This record gives sequence, C-alpha cells and structure tokens, in this order.
Amino acid sequence: MSEGRARIAASILNSDLANLAREVRRAERAGADRIHLDVMDAHFVPNLTFGAGTIKALRPVTRRPFDAHLMIDEPGRYLDDYLEAGCDSITVHVEVAEPIEPTLRRIRRAGRAAGLALRPATPLAALEPYRGLLDIVLVMTVEPGFGGQQFMVDVAAAKILPARDLFAGRPWGGEVHVDGGVNRETAELVGGLGADVLVAGTALFTRGRDPAREVRLMRALADEGYAQQRNEGRPPIPRDATCRFVRLPRAIAERLAGEIEAAGVPVVVLRGDGSINPDGVRDHDLLVPRTTEAWLVERFGPARDAALAEAEAWRADLLGRGVDRSRDHPDQPEDPARPAAEEAGGSPPARRR
Ligand code: DX5
Ligand code: ZN
Repeated sequence: MSEGRARIAASILNSDLANLAREVRRAERAGADRIHLDVMDAHFVPNLTFGAGTIKALRPVTRRPFDAHLMIDEPGRYLDDYLEAGCDSITVHVEVAEPIEPTLRRIRRAGRAAGLALRPATPLAALEPYRGLLDIVLVMTVEPGFGGQQFMVDVAAAKILPARDLFAGRPWGGEVHVDGGVNRETAELVGGLGADVLVAGTALFTRGRDPAREVRLMRALADEGYAQQRNEGRPPIPRDATCRFVRLPRAIAERLAGEIEAAGVPVVVLRGDGSINPDGVRDHDLLVPRTTEAWLVERFGPARDAALAEAEAWRADLLGRGVDRSRDHPDQPEDPARPAAEEAGGSPPARRR
C-alpha cells in the first residue's frame, strides 16, 4: 500500500515489448500502483500496440490494478474482451464516433471503473454529457499514439484542475489521470493541479534509470506540489488512510454503514476492541477513507448522533430486562489493518463486483 496521495501508473508502451511480463513485474517491484495498458488500433491513432489477448495473458503476472487506455475507434464493440481480460478500469476516448454512454454503463455494470480520455485539442466540455457516469477523467498531455513525447504544459494548466469539477459533490472516488510526458520534471506541476494518478512510461523504462527511484520522486514531487498549491503547505491526506467514523453495536453499525455506502463512500465494518454489549457482542467500528471524514461529519453527523443515542437506549433496555451476557464469552476484536486497506482506499474507484 503506497503512502501519500498521488498514485503512479506505469505505462508499459515504451518498455521491452519482447518481455512484457518481466516489465510488468519490474514496474510492480518499483512500486508502481497500477499498470497502464495503451491499446492502439492504428485507426484512432497512427500506431498499433496490443489488445485484450495480451492483457489477458499478463493478468496473472500481478495483482496490481490494470488500467486500460483504449485508443481504438470501436471500444464498445470490443469491450467484453477487455472486461474478460481482467481490466480494473477502462478508459475510452470521448472523440470516438460510437455512442459512448452505453459503453460507460457496461463498464460500470461489470463492476469496473469507467473513464473518458481527451486529446489535447478536445475541450473539457465534451465530457459534460457523461458527468454522472465517470470514475476517471484522463487528460492527455501529448497527442495520443506514442510514448516519449514532450509534455504540454498549457494543456495541463487548462484542464487538470477544472477536470476535478466533473466530480464535484462526490465525497469519494472520481480520479483525474494525466498521461503523456509525465516525469520528475513535470510531477510537481500536475500534483499542484490536483492530479490523482500520474501515468508514466519513458520516465520509468528508459535504460539506465532506476524505476523505483523515479516512482518515489514523482510521487513525492506530486504531493509536494499538491501541498503547496492546494493544501496551504500541509501534506495531503494519504489516499489509502482510513479512520474510524463511529463505534456502535453491530446491527446499528451495519445499518448506518449501508446509508453511508449508498451516498458513495465505501465503509468497512469491523468488530472493534471496545466494550462488550449486554448481548455478548463487542461494538463494531465503521472505518472510512480519511479523505471523506470532513464530508461525512457534515452529512452524517446527525445520523451518527442519533445512532449513538439509539445504542444507549438499546443497552439500557437489555440490562433493564436482566439480559447481560457481556461476561459470558470474550468476543475477540478483528484486525483493523487487513480488510480496511483492501476495501477503503487502495484500488481504482471500481464498482464493487
Ligand atoms: C500515449 C499513451 C501514454 C504513453 C505515456 O498515447 O497514452 O500512456 O505511453 O508514455 P510517456 O510517459 O513516455 O509519455
Ligand atoms: Zn495512455
């Protein structure tokens, strides 16, 4: 699990194409959070790379999320192949002639994260019709088709921050990815513009470069940029950090967790190490991403207080009726580390399968 806020996706386009499995392992060992898969059909872009078959063959090589970037004319026609190949997020281009909405809905229905990418010349407004259907906005800072191109500062400055607005009102999930010419020289700029995921190819796979060092540098510089430009100099909240929103008896905890999840925030409910209730079961903790805490307090503060009061009344009622099994059998707390990390923060904002 990575520290910090920014995530690094390794684009294997400019790696050793004759040894893709080895290169995917190398990216994972270097600390890349995701594997970025550039699929090109020689129509949408003037280059031909690999397809669903290659991705499917690479899937068993790593558990790192597969982030597919489809630069093809007909993503809807071939979508099932990429879903079946095991992609965790699928980003298609808004400029394709095919209808886009059905494709985004199919990606989400399959429990994956749906994204739209824009060429440098395409205005952000082109994404407006799909606002509610997006988990990822991918801002291209080079003309799609090749790795190793020059980063377009003006495009980054014009699009990355406003792209966040497409996720306005959403407490969790919704990522802005930046792709093309991203490296240690440009990481601070894109971090300062609020980019969540930095896609990097040449920066990692250039001969003589230490990819682990590049990953660390880009992540640190992006978070430094975010701290300076977006967070009054304070380090950003780590993306995978979780916190306890409330501790309640199980039934009340699960009900409130359901309400919070319905509002779009993932919750992990775990038996805590607090007091044992008169029914013999310990209170349960609601663990949530720390980045959502302020929003949750505002939106679910009253519901939390009501649940705490309900819990008090429930305990008093049981004790009043002479029911007290709190000493009968020690109910062991659950390890908060394991599921929380898996569920509440690490992977793309994919829909639960
Ligand atoms: C270009 C691709 C990018 C590219 C990034 O069309 O979408 O993902 O591989 O490579 P660099 O980091 O070298 O620009
Ligand atoms: Zn890409």
